[in-house]
Amino acid sequence: MTKRTDNTRHARTEVLDAFVASDSPKPSPGALSAAEAWLSRSEPVVIPTETVYGLAARALDRAGVLSIFEIKGRPADNPLIVHVTRSSHLDEAGAALSPVARRLVERFWPGPLTLVVPCRASLPWVTAGLDSVAVRHPSHPFAAALIDRVGPLAAPSANLSGRPSPTRARHALADLSGRVPLIVDGGDLEHGLESTVLDVRGDVPVLLRPGALPAELLEQALGASVERASAHGEVRSPGMKYRHYSPRAELWLYPWDSGAPQRSGAAALLHGDARQLRASGRTVAAIAREPIEAERFIPQPGDARELARNLFGWLYEFDELGVDCILVEGVAPSGIGRAVMDRLERAATRVRTPEPARGIAS
Ligand code: TXA
Ligand code: MG
Repeated sequence: MTKRTDNTRHARTEVLDAFVASDSPKPSPGALSAAEAWLSRSEPVVIPTETVYGLAARALDRAGVLSIFEIKGRPADNPLIVHVTRSSHLDEAGAALSPVARRLVERFWPGPLTLVVPCRASLPWVTAGLDSVAVRHPSHPFAAALIDRVGPLAAPSANLSGRPSPTRARHALADLSGRVPLIVDGGDLEHGLESTVLDVRGDVPVLLRPGALPAELLEQALGASVERASAHGEVRSPGMKYRHYSPRAELWLYPWDSGAPQRSGAAALLHGDARQLRASGRTVAAIAREPIEAERFIPQPGDARELARNLFGWLYEFDELGVDCILVEGVAPSGIGRAVMDRLERAATRVRTPEPARGIAS
């Protein structure tokens, strides 16, 4: 049997604005009705959230959710997040909240925090057969209004599996054109990076994915530290074992160097690599603190939140330009910088670290 690679399901993908006007937070009734109509036909649609664009189907609609996996080419063992706005939605998803989970919900919802909790319902198409379910209450006005209308939505990021999460409607369109009937355009998003995923089933909460909500804020709220999933050897979040966030070009990462703010070892290495790559005829895009000659240069924002908000968008742009190599100077792995570095490390085809300088021992 030949494998079907053409995944065209719709002759046309319609793009509708999420809001009645670009300066208004009021969700467009037309876009809400169109989304509702497709969802009730089990056709997943792309919607904005405050983190990244999501590919949504009703969580209780088995056929709709299975279509999400087909459209994205997502491995069947990678469960989805259920997006909710009311406690009755948590009941529908079978989500059982512990006292700690409730505390976090009160403090951080709606917002970019996903909680993994025990699951009492049987929704194997969402949970990939696990006995837990991931839930989050998005703060984006369009996503929230749609969930209010149609009930809980299962939604992964609206990219083909393995690609960067889209943070602009046209980047979702680049991946999913013809595969979905509708993309709701919410403009630029507040965070540009996926939610933080925290497993709150055990005595000590475990950070499964650093994200838009910095772990330091969780620790402050809990008055205790959270464990990092990597400390556990085993894979606790199925999604973390796959290569992720990859642009088509090679991505070379130069991890943050606590040394000089000016031309540090990592920065010098990046500059030298850019020169050599271009001398050998390859095209280069770079995100770095100091300007370099490249086909596309983006000054690295001093604020890690600004980098987070733009990073995936830039990766898609570099792919549109068709560069061969993307060179990125890393940032300090704290606050949202931790999540940025996590994504860059997963996207990287090479991690470049300078030889340690042979200084004089003191
Ligand atoms: O910001 C976000 O979280 C976006 C927006 C659309 O809400 N969604 C998103 O979904 O990033 P996705 O599917 O791309 O990533 C969800 C992550 C995956 O790594 C998945 O393995 C993990 O959450 N996950 C989902 N359910 C889980 C569960 N029951 N146990 C452990 N990990 C789970
Ligand atoms: Mg994703």
